[in-house]
Amino acid sequence: MKTNARSFKESVFVLSGEELTLPFGEIRSLILTYLKDSKIQKQNERIVTSSLSDLDSISKVTQRAAYCRFGGALISKSKNILSLADQVDKDLVQENRTFAVDSISLTMAECGELGAKIKSKTDARVSLENPDYVFQVEAIPEGLVLGLSSQGYKKFHWRTRRPRARRFFLPSAIYPKLARALVNLSRVKEGESFADPFCGTGSLLIESSLMGMRSIGIEITRWISRGAALNLKHFTLPYESIIRADSSNSLPLREIDGIATDVPYGRASSTKGKKTEKIMEEFLSSASSCMRSSSSRKKYLVIMHPSTVDIKEMIRNQGNSFQLQEQHLLYVHRNLTRAISILERTAA
Ligand SMILES: C[S@@+](CC[C@H](N)C(=O)[O-])C[C@H]1O[C@@H](n2cnc3c(N)ncnc32)[C@H](O)[C@@H]1O
Repeated sequence: MKTNARSFKESVFVLSGEELTLPFGEIRSLILTYLKDSKIQKQNERIVTSSLSDLDSISKVTQRAAYCRFGGALISKSKNILSLADQVDKDLVQENRTFAVDSISLTMAECGELGAKIKSKTDARVSLENPDYVFQVEAIPEGLVLGLSSQGYKKFHWRTRRPRARRFFLPSAIYPKLARALVNLSRVKEGESFADPFCGTGSLLIESSLMGMRSIGIEITRWISRGAALNLKHFTLPYESIIRADSSNSLPLREIDGIATDVPYGRASSTKGKKTEKIMEEFLSSASSCMRSSSSRKKYLVIMHPSTVDIKEMIRNQGNSFQLQEQHLLYVHRNLTRAISILERTAA
């Protein structure tokens, strides 16, 4: 469904607020995937605005992001709630459609007040259950912002893709939400190539394939690589290849647009007798040769590993083919905190 013919200057996103830094990292990567020089402002822990203004890209970012509950065009900013609706008129929403006003910062009564004003200015009817349009009103340091999405409420169906719901299961399999965020941090677009060199049961490949990437998996254990292929087939998802190979040797990849992976720690997943650090060191060298960056196309390697690994020193020892851009920490239990490191391939 179309929003309208009107053009906008900015967008607004509401994050899910589940993890500390990961939701902002993910949305930032996605915005930059679709608009390289976008200005991004973290208004508070949950609200982000950006100069991304093309409706198609706003919708792609919103639908892709695992840790984002709303994304839309920024319609207006004001200190007064009812003045937010001054920019709303009949051609903003199509005839005979429904809408809802939603917010994480305002009360239901305040949303209702704004909803009544929006209703009086358009032909739309209210549907709180299943609206065509969502008007999102949020508080930011300067006042209030009003966003509009023509996609209704976001639905993800994570449960249908959870590890236990797949044909092939291993305890090391990660949940689809985290898998999707890892893929998104690699800044790969639909139609481009994406690889997971320690693919296990294929959690990241399922998400990359759902997002329209040309997905390639590598896995050292033959029966696990077959299991990953079975999982993709189970969801009737296309993939380029799932190769049985050792990713700490040379990677069987030529040019790849981005990599995201979850390396083995030797607890739930086998390291085949090697230390995680050794596997990572060797893998960084092999990844550097199939990920050449240029000034027009930066490439990213996203690697999830135990936080005890000193990735900065590893990059120095490897010869600085990568630069550490950011890192997110995820507490798992007393003996394990995961780090998600985002490395940019330095220009060759
Ligand atoms: C942490 S698990 C990946 C789990 C995966 N993300 C999932 O959700 O199923 C790491 C995987 O790497 C594989 N592996 C270990 N050493 C490898 C190597 N040198 N090359 C490729 N795969 C390897 C293991 O067999 C294991 O399946």
